[in-house]
Amino acid sequence: MIDLHVHLRGTLTPTMACKLAERNSISLDAARWAAKGYGWHDFTSFLQAYDHIASVIATAQDLEEVAYDYLSRSAQLGTTYVEFMLSPPDLMRVGVAFDDQLAALSAARERALELHGIDCRMIATAVRHLGPAAATQAARLAVGRRHDILVGFGLTGDERMFPVGDFKEAFSIARSEGLRATAHAGEHLGPDTIIEAIEVLGLERVGHGIRAVESEVVMRQLASAKIPLEVCLTSNLALNLYPSIGKHPIGRLNAAGCAIVLGTDDPSFFSTDIEMEYSLAAGVGLSAHDITAQANTASFRAILPSRH
Ligand code: ADE
Ligand code: ZN
Repeated sequence: MIDLHVHLRGTLTPTMACKLAERNSISLDAARWAAKGYGWHDFTSFLQAYDHIASVIATAQDLEEVAYDYLSRSAQLGTTYVEFMLSPPDLMRVGVAFDDQLAALSAARERALELHGIDCRMIATAVRHLGPAAATQAARLAVGRRHDILVGFGLTGDERMFPVGDFKEAFSIARSEGLRATAHAGEHLGPDTIIEAIEVLGLERVGHGIRAVESEVVMRQLASAKIPLEVCLTSNLALNLYPSIGKHPIGRLNAAGCAIVLGTDDPSFFSTDIEMEYSLAAGVGLSAHDITAQANTASFRAILPSRH
């Protein structure tokens, strides 16, 4: 199994959150961390819970532990490769330099590779609701360092904020230095926004993109361009995008020829893991073998050429 859409901060288990909160003397809202999935009720309150819980990560050592924890748990399930999304400016705001973040992730990667045979890469992300200027800064930061773990640039956060065209500059900076591009699109907004994001940002994959199902034209375009959708089934159900797995569009997207890869999104917030995602997909006719083959093709794993 391969997990191509997972936010590193979204992997933080209650046990780990509690340990880091104590170690860093950060007080967590007890009602939140004691609640299943950290207690939220819609996308806006999910994003708030997410920032609150993630605030316990305050040092490079914390980052290394969180990444290693997820990799070792994933390896036990049979995962061989993970691409983590992480917004470097978030941790820089609490004093963890970008170089230290890269070193921490690399240390986790090496330890996990050696002890559990699982590999990973990182996609540096900008947060959409923080606006285009912050995104451009995040892109400049990402391209300022060549590191073999850093392979992509992404856009997360609230898709309903700022037109996608506002992020064109950020993505052209990232792509001009060889970072591969993905962005959340068509999770909360309609199918046309998926094509717009692909064209304007130069995407090679789409985060979620499931609302493509609402347009035959968009599904045909995705299928012929072979742009994979990073589908996160449990996340979509948890965020109430669809009432049940039977109503989820994955089967229709697959039947229309759209390439599909899987991710856990924020597994600790949505009470899932990659095994569960693969088994939900198997239940609607997508075999683990086919999805893994597709994910291998769609991964950003290749190491960037070093800069002279
Ligand atoms: N950040 C973390 N999880 C997210 C999601 N499902 N959509 C957008 N941004 C996110
Ligand atoms: Zn996501």
